[in-house]
Amino acid sequence: MKFKKLAALASSVILATSIFAGCGGSSSSTSTSSSSDSSKKKVVIGFAQVGAESGWRTAETNSIKEIPKLDPNVDLKFSDGQQKQENQIKAIRSFIAQKVSVIALDPVVETGWDTVLKEAKDAKIPVVIVDRGVKVSDESLYTCFLGSDMEEEGKRAAKLIIDHFGKDAKLNIAELQGTVGSSAMVGRQKGFNETIKDCPNYKIIKSQTGDFTRAKGKEVMEAFLKSDGDKINVLWSHNDDMGVGAIQAIEEYGKKPGKDIFIVSVDGIKDMFQMMADGKSNGIVECNPLLGPQLLETAKAVVAGQKVEKNIKSKESVFTQDQAKKELPNRKY
Ligand code: AHR
Repeated sequence: MKFKKLAALASSVILATSIFAGCGGSSSSTSTSSSSDSSKKKVVIGFAQVGAESGWRTAETNSIKEIPKLDPNVDLKFSDGQQKQENQIKAIRSFIAQKVSVIALDPVVETGWDTVLKEAKDAKIPVVIVDRGVKVSDESLYTCFLGSDMEEEGKRAAKLIIDHFGKDAKLNIAELQGTVGSSAMVGRQKGFNETIKDCPNYKIIKSQTGDFTRAKGKEVMEAFLKSDGDKINVLWSHNDDMGVGAIQAIEEYGKKPGKDIFIVSVDGIKDMFQMMADGKSNGIVECNPLLGPQLLETAKAVVAGQKVEKNIKSKESVFTQDQAKKELPNRKY
């Protein structure tokens, strides 16, 4: 256990060394602290979380909450936004009032952050955007982004389908979208749709949000099946939880998930790996939620006034059904 923690810390330090090699973005660190000052003062990270909508999110929250255990010189203030932007904005304002050293924001949606990020900038509190991206008029409103390439994930999901069926197959695809307006939904949809443009007979016949939750994924899939149950050959789910809910709906409808309907989703949570090992799903695009160690190193560097890369993207894999049984015991979330 101890060794695992050390190894995780060591790998994040190695990663951090490459991240902080002096390129890119603006670092609006607390103006007064030199690096020697900051090593004496406790670093306080205020983390504004999206909510608790999925297994992925729980894994991310747990990883972030490990931060003070990895470094006793760092404190964490955690806020759960319950999937509401207004709650996250309130949390950021409260972090500003409490004069935290760094604000980390995992934004539920991409837009609508300019005003509050300007308030953080005016208070000289640097902001690290985590997991989902933001669209702002002025990129200097945040120091850096740390997370996945959502568009790339959508492309990888489409490629899993193309690799299995070929470009010329005739497919009717049902799409379960994530939270509307989130970078995870927008990016994945864009990457997927661009990739299947080369496949003349791939048709998205159903597309609706399941808000990244298991319950809504099931509900929406039930409605898809009710209207077009005999037409759908592929389910493209923007996350695993909605996919797991949809698998239940498909079974209740009397079809075999993974056989009658080919299923591809994003995340890589254990529950979906189990489904895939059981033959009920066909492909997973990994999205890494274990961002705590990287956020810790990034926050410390920012507070110390070091320059960090503007976009720090996670490295992730893709898994097919034949790999599921072997990979299942290795999954950490
Ligand atoms: O932003 C990451 C996405 O949010 C994950 O894919 C999903 O499971 C979560 O709710």
